[in-house]
Amino acid sequence: MKFIAFGVRDDERPYFVEWQQENNIQVDLHQEMLDEKSLPATKSYSAVITLQTSSYPAGMFEFFKQNSIKALALRNVGVDNLNLAAAKKFKIPVTNVPAYSPNAIAEFSVTQLLQLLRKTTIFRQKIAAHDFRWAPDIGEELRSKTVGVIGTGRIGKAAIKIYQGFGAKVIAYDLYPDEKLKAQGIYVSSITELLQQADVITLHLPATAADHYLLNEEAFSLMKSGVYIINTARGALIDTRALLAALKVNKVAGVAFDTYENEGPIFNHDLQKKPFTDALLAELLVQPNVLITPHIAFYTKTAVKNMVLISLNSAKDVCLKHTSANLVRK
Ligand code: COI
Repeated sequence: MKFIAFGVRDDERPYFVEWQQENNIQVDLHQEMLDEKSLPATKSYSAVITLQTSSYPAGMFEFFKQNSIKALALRNVGVDNLNLAAAKKFKIPVTNVPAYSPNAIAEFSVTQLLQLLRKTTIFRQKIAAHDFRWAPDIGEELRSKTVGVIGTGRIGKAAIKIYQGFGAKVIAYDLYPDEKLKAQGIYVSSITELLQQADVITLHLPATAADHYLLNEEAFSLMKSGVYIINTARGALIDTRALLAALKVNKVAGVAFDTYENEGPIFNHDLQKKPFTDALLAELLVQPNVLITPHIAFYTKTAVKNMVLISLNSAKDVCLKHTSANLVRK
């Protein structure tokens, strides 16, 4: 058994090394992503370990089948960039890491909201220009807000706990409500209701075809004036153009997004010496009430360690099961 890992960063390497030593399984590490060019390198391996928000090569699962590669183990949670129908067709198990650290993402969401409420970006700009005055940038307190949480899975739940700790009123919506949260009476009966009542809307749901542009022009029109939007989930959940329009008329008072619908070629890339061609993002970047971060909500030491170790354990489990299933059949 040997594995090949793609998109490996320096901060992940020690955990790969630790796991290899403990498990005595070879894992070859590659910095580049898994794409059409690097796909052939997977040929002699038992499992492929990846982490990427960009798309995977077309025909990948068929290639895995033809070359007896037994598993694709993601180091992240999201599977929206994968052709799962093809994985099923070619019978390639895909594993992800559903709970590497829900708190990492929840804490980051709250951090960004607090920054928006206290106008830290504006103060940073003023102070850089040696303007140390307070007014007119008076802040708001979280405990005076109704926070609408869309998606109450592990991350949504962690966020709710933090928001309640600050004394905020929390309302929530999920297609599959959680029994314990239901008992707290925090669920509203529709997304529309949530959009109409919330002072803050925070997204904690996966991106599916049904949720594409969940926050679109119509959704923004339903929201309260002066609403804050936090998105640490997936860029595809928001129609960014509609968001910009809502910002321009002050319907939206502030937005923090850590994911962006066209982030693939931008986030986690060094573009300092390259022309910046995304006009929409460029316009958002200069707004004082917009906080943009490059998909870093997950990026903590705890999360990164768990992502590496859990994905490798899952790959090993699948390969061992595959071997024992073959032995039984023989
Ligand atoms: C995920 O785990 O799906 C994330 O969004 C994190 C990112 C590094 C891919």
